[in-house]
Amino acid sequence: MRGKFVAGNWKMNTDHASGLALAKSLVDGIRADAAISAGLASGKLRTAVCPPFPYLAAVAGAIQGSKVELGAQNCYMEKPGAFTGEVAASMLKDIGCGLVVLGHSERRHKMGETDAQIKAKLVAAQAAGLEVILCLGETLAERQAEKTFSVLAEQIAGALGGLPVETLAKLVIAYEPVWAIGTGVNASPAQAQEAHAFIRKDLAKHFGQAAADKMIIQYGGSLTADNAREILSQPDVDGGLVGGASLDAKKFLPILQAAVA
Ligand code: 13P
Repeated sequence: MRGKFVAGNWKMNTDHASGLALAKSLVDGIRADAAISAGLASGKLRTAVCPPFPYLAAVAGAIQGSKVELGAQNCYMEKPGAFTGEVAASMLKDIGCGLVVLGHSERRHKMGETDAQIKAKLVAAQAAGLEVILCLGETLAERQAEKTFSVLAEQIAGALGGLPVETLAKLVIAYEPVWAIGTGVNASPAQAQEAHAFIRKDLAKHFGQAAADKMIIQYGGSLTADNAREILSQPDVDGGLVGGASLDAKKFLPILQAAVA
């Protein structure tokens, strides 16, 4: 039985003080909520925050002793060396990250990241001991052209093709339709379920059904307290990757509640 995993992607938001305050209010809110606490204690629920690089170490301190996990939003594929401005996976591990988000659509589409780069980063991150949240998702034009499934299959093959099945043990997939990110237009529960089921089927093609059945597949894209319950109750939706609503504990905690409801 797969549990649920809800992670907050803070993107390029907060400052030092507000990031610390957000982490603290999340930890306090979880402590005060019996259902969320029980979910986290039993392993049926995982949660994480992914702050910007400069605040990772401070947030690591703020969540210490809680069940909130720490993730970064990107890393570089090379070992430490002459790569000005980049951050190595081993550095993230060193300051307390267990997770790293890779292949986010904002990096694919705004920074021009390719599947080959994402694959190299994924391999490097796992080699450094990080678990990877790999983001996939189609644009509106691709959906309208009925290319959703072929885009997802291409992104899966591009990032994971040829890698050993053990790769899945330290991997979470996030299905994030680009048209739903930050738009207030979420995928319908049926659209999310259809895409998640396709992703699982495609993972099974690469890695076998047993490994695919164990995979946590998060939904991301305008996930809120209002729509979380219905979306997260779909059989192949195993949690969420939350942007906007992760920036306010009052909005993020109800999504955790929906995940354990
Ligand atoms: P929003 O929840 O703001 O739509 O962002 C989703 C996302 O991109 C999470 O990685």
